[in-house]
Amino acid sequence: MNITVAGSGYVGLVTGVCLAELGHRVICSDIQEEKIAMLQSGRSPIYEPGLEDLLEKNLQCGNLHFTTNPQYAYEDAEIIFIAVGTPEQQDGTANLTYVCEVAHSIAHFMKHDVIICTKSTVPVGTNDQIAEIIQRQKPVNLHAEVVANPEFLREGSAVVDFFYGDRIVIGTNCSKAATTIEQIYLPLGIPIIKTDIKSAEMIKYAANAFLATKISFINEIATICEKVGANIDEVTKGIGKDERIGPYFLQAGIGYGGSCFPKDTKALVQLAGNMQHSFDLLQAVIEVNTRQASLPVVKAKELIGSLKGKKVALLGLSFKPNTDDVREAASLVIVKELLKEGAIITAYDPIAIPNAQHVLGNTIEYTQDIRLALLHADVAIIATEWEEIKQLSLDSYELYMKNPIVIDGRNCYSLKEIRKHPMTYISIGRPIVINEYKKSTTY
Ligand code: UDX
Repeated sequence: MNITVAGSGYVGLVTGVCLAELGHRVICSDIQEEKIAMLQSGRSPIYEPGLEDLLEKNLQCGNLHFTTNPQYAYEDAEIIFIAVGTPEQQDGTANLTYVCEVAHSIAHFMKHDVIICTKSTVPVGTNDQIAEIIQRQKPVNLHAEVVANPEFLREGSAVVDFFYGDRIVIGTNCSKAATTIEQIYLPLGIPIIKTDIKSAEMIKYAANAFLATKISFINEIATICEKVGANIDEVTKGIGKDERIGPYFLQAGIGYGGSCFPKDTKALVQLAGNMQHSFDLLQAVIEVNTRQASLPVVKAKELIGSLKGKKVALLGLSFKPNTDDVREAASLVIVKELLKEGAIITAYDPIAIPNAQHVLGNTIEYTQDIRLALLHADVAIIATEWEEIKQLSLDSYELYMKNPIVIDGRNCYSLKEIRKHPMTYISIGRPIVINEYKKSTTY
């Protein structure tokens, strides 16, 4: 089919490239000329495992095209996916400007009947709004049907999630449109849920809010574990075996970040508020998450007192491993708090440094070599559980740091291993390990 994906950000690009891989003729559009030029040359502007290979392959075989020209993008499309951003506004609501602009543009340029599939996360009722805009402005002889088709792609495994996701949600009251969209996804063999538009919109928010709730819940349990002397690893194992709870999304740490959970949880609280319902539970989830990001600095101060002039090795900048995305990353909060305390920071990350530099500038030092970050550091703070950090020999902390004090915000190491090394190790929801150390080598 002729498919256009409006918006070549992480959701749009992954969707477009993967649909091309399924054999469709796909045009991905965007307003950013630079991004489109880069994509036309086969390079991905985002780091996403497996994406660039599929991008190059489908560009070469002619299935995939990129454009900034809305006329070219929309006039021949049979299906248009809307995947533009819905950034958070100051009051927590989603900004729908880009979504509405695409709707106007589609109505203006469409030359055939079209199905418009919304992938962007939008508040309940937005798809009706999109339908209204198009209905008002489209040529009278043409038909446009709007379908809510939320995405559940995780950064860092978005390509795998596209092909092997848990479910596909198709929200529409038009059975013909539902069948057409179903046909696109059928080759994937993923369970398909057909529902009404508003329920589909709600599914996306409810899923993200529930996952965020699991994370804040386990983080609260971790805090209590610390206070009573229990170990969150044992507790998680114990509750995760209960099939009604499940083992996933129970990793305690310094909270969730990224482009979805923080934004979508706030938007849902706002949405509920607009309906005169105070979503207190989700509000608490957000508050717990905000608190978690500050924990490493609180713990560092408790242990060593003033951080003024202290050298801190910050290990990990991205909001999670396998992505260069630093949006709403705990590392940014940690940097802010550490600078407030007068600490001197050297941050390590394998790929997120350029993105972090955009936000933090030269307020801190950056390195892609963990050992350089650790060199002469008074304390190391782990903010992202990168494999490179998990695989680091634990001797390195003693070898390179002034004092091997590690505050692990992601519980990267087993306490059994840590106990074999002369270091002070503070993690989340687990007993503190203080082993005597005597520095023998100076670097
Ligand atoms: C999320 C959803 O998983 C995805 O379905 C949706 O479409 C977009 O938002 P993403 O933001 O890419 O995906 O990352 P995810 O892997 O879900 O992790 C989100 C955050 O939660 C990360 O900061 C991660 O470190 C944190 N997290 C996750 C925990 O702290 N504990 C966990 O157990 C799981």
